[in-house]
Amino acid sequence: MAKVSATPPADSAALPSRAKLGVLISGRGSNLQALIDAIAAGTLDARIAVVISNRAAAAGLERARSAGIETLTISHRDFSSRDDFDQALAAALRERGVGLVCLAGFMRLIGQPMLDAFPNAILNVHPSLLPAFPGVDAQAQAIAHGVKVSGVTVHLVTGELDGGPIILQAAVAVHDDDTPDTLAERILVEEHRVYPEAVRLVLSRRWRLEGRRFVVAEPGRRQQS
Ligand code: GRF
Repeated sequence: MAKVSATPPADSAALPSRAKLGVLISGRGSNLQALIDAIAAGTLDARIAVVISNRAAAAGLERARSAGIETLTISHRDFSSRDDFDQALAAALRERGVGLVCLAGFMRLIGQPMLDAFPNAILNVHPSLLPAFPGVDAQAQAIAHGVKVSGVTVHLVTGELDGGPIILQAAVAVHDDDTPDTLAERILVEEHRVYPEAVRLVLSRRWRLEGRRFVVAEPGRRQQS
């Protein structure tokens, strides 16, 4: 049985289900904070119904509590298989009426039960211009490769690691004297700007998938008959 610890739920009854976000974290939670701040500023019309961490010590949980958001810790260690862990995540999110899941530094692979529960409704933010440098230590990979430009990608999550349709990207110059930390710091600024924007775009429903392309319909553009 999973150890699940919780604080009281925030009131998220009034919003349509797609605008009820579930944010999954494993650590610091600065991207979670960017979403919290965008909602508080009124630039993102959504509500975070729950923040779930697989690590009880994740600093981001405190950010959520400070914002009055329900938090859960669901540790992958309490489950004998990845699918069971995924099912527990999906169940917790569904119970809270979540319509869109935002991964924000969540350090576990998303498996089929979550993909089935939230088809084309899981977003991830990654600190490189995908498809370059997927996986961990993307900033160190970029420096080691010698690229002059890296950046941030927000994408839909599929079964392929960091490989889903790209929603938004922003470029960040790589300096000759960058370390993974200095580059990460500059990329993070762009992550915090772009992630709420990508969530807004997805919630607007002004997009469609063409193969693996995420295509945005231009406002006011005439429909082809
Ligand atoms: C970010 O760089 C994000 O792109 C990556 O993990 C980091 C999480 O940072 N997936 P934070 O926990 O949001 O501060």
